[in-house]
Amino acid sequence: MARSSPFIDPGPRTTEGTLALVHLSRDNLQPVYLRGSTGAVDGYAEGNVINTRFGSFPHSTLIGVPWGAQVRASIVDTGSRGRKKKPDGNGEAAPEDMTESTAAEEEPTAAAGVKTAASGFVHVLAPTPELWTMSLPHRTQVVYTPDYSYILHRIRARPGVRIIEAGAGSGSFTHAAVRAVFNGHPDSESKDTGKVFSFEFDKARFEKMQEEIEAHNLRDLVHITHRDVYNEGFLVKDGESPEADCIFLDLPAPWKALPHLTRASQNRKSPLRADRSVYLCTFSPCIEQVTKTVEVMRQLGWMDIEMVEVAHKRFNVMRERVGLNMPTERGTNQTAGNVAEALARLREVEEKAREFHGRAQGAGANEDDEMDVDEAKAEVTANGQVANEDQDGDDAKPWMLGRLIHRTEAEIKTHTSYLTFAVLPQEWTAEQEAAAFESWPCGQEKGVIGSLDKAVRKQEKRDMLAGKKRKKEMAAASKNGSGTASGNNSPAPKKSKSN
Ligand SMILES: C[S@@+](CC[C@H](N)C(=O)[O-])C[C@H]1O[C@@H](n2cnc3c(N)ncnc32)[C@H](O)[C@@H]1O
Repeated sequence: MARSSPFIDPGPRTTEGTLALVHLSRDNLQPVYLRGSTGAVDGYAEGNVINTRFGSFPHSTLIGVPWGAQVRASIVDTGSRGRKKKPDGNGEAAPEDMTESTAAEEEPTAAAGVKTAASGFVHVLAPTPELWTMSLPHRTQVVYTPDYSYILHRIRARPGVRIIEAGAGSGSFTHAAVRAVFNGHPDSESKDTGKVFSFEFDKARFEKMQEEIEAHNLRDLVHITHRDVYNEGFLVKDGESPEADCIFLDLPAPWKALPHLTRASQNRKSPLRADRSVYLCTFSPCIEQVTKTVEVMRQLGWMDIEMVEVAHKRFNVMRERVGLNMPTERGTNQTAGNVAEALARLREVEEKAREFHGRAQGAGANEDDEMDVDEAKAEVTANGQVANEDQDGDDAKPWMLGRLIHRTEAEIKTHTSYLTFAVLPQEWTAEQEAAAFESWPCGQEKGVIGSLDKAVRKQEKRDMLAGKKRKKEMAAASKNGSGTASGNNSPAPKKSKSN
């Protein structure tokens, strides 16, 4: 059984050799391949260490912890690395002076021999395509989560299907696609395992992708080929067809690749699955590219062509907090929360001004200058917090204070690309046509096919009943030897003739 990818099944804890995403803040994640080590590495006695603005983290403290765990920073033994090197001949300082940790608790972490620092922590997250998109080393523009989640849904990427993707670029779409189609490893019981067939013509990007696919344990789910798809198409090794169910093209000129994505012809094998409709999406930033692509799509028999633009807008939901006593808190309005707070602040400012000018507190102050404040209404707490509303009581949780409001994020990504979708109907052979004609003999029907309107149905029923009645009467007449069955010598009903 192939070892599972951390993107598919990360297991309950971090393990040596796998990718972990170190979460520093909401928009700052650092990918780390966790390496165990027995000796010093790169001047650190603890082995491999990552350095962040929240402190240093030896890999040994990150291995074997539950995914999502908070890990405290460590005091690292920098050995020779910590000593300041003399400037070289050019007068330049030696590189990489490690920041010395300050006060430290003598508290060993889970990793033997490593001491926890006084402050600083990170969270260790399991890789997902969404987090990878945020943290991957960019070689190109990438497809972001709002776009690829919509694309994968529209091209019907689901467990077991096979996707063609070009170009691979930085692999952002590749990781999302592989998770969407995963339904087991090829060596497991499942026969039709989903797969991504990725193509990239830039050598350096192709090699980096290969390296990452290997490191993420996705080699049996992603088949990457170094290829110029405009000229060489999408067949894989030895001219084998990927038998793709769907296609995603993120190329500068998708219309140049489309002639290779047709049904089989006499002299050409198709890279597409023959017995199903194939779904396609192209991703182009300019409308001129879309126009050219749509033109070629129409010529090649693609149907249901539709263009969509995803305009992603994030809403931040937060508590609106107002107060002069919260100068360092994000999301607060730095104005007085109420009259009492404004007066308290004015008093503080005046007090400071008096001190500054060397006057004794209150000396010389005219009592008439004092403002008249209803002290009962507000109480200024020791830390300057004004507690005069129910929600501002001592027990109130800081994150529950203030009105709940929402704001759109400051920076809105309005345009990434135009998504053009299309469908190519399934391949249709003479045998399939014959089988369909057998089931639905169009033009040679003996009965009625499909629905008829009410009047026609009623007339048919009347005719049928009249026919039955006639048969009965004729049978009775032949039995009695008489001319009619009714005995009243009335003639048998005749079929009405039209004029
Ligand atoms: C915008 S990037 C793709 C980004 C990718 N979708 C992602 O999410 O990371 C476009 C890629 O197409 C590749 N490319 C351009 N022309 C190509 C061609 N004719 N055949 C194969 N790849 C090509 C480029 O080298 C580039 O890496």
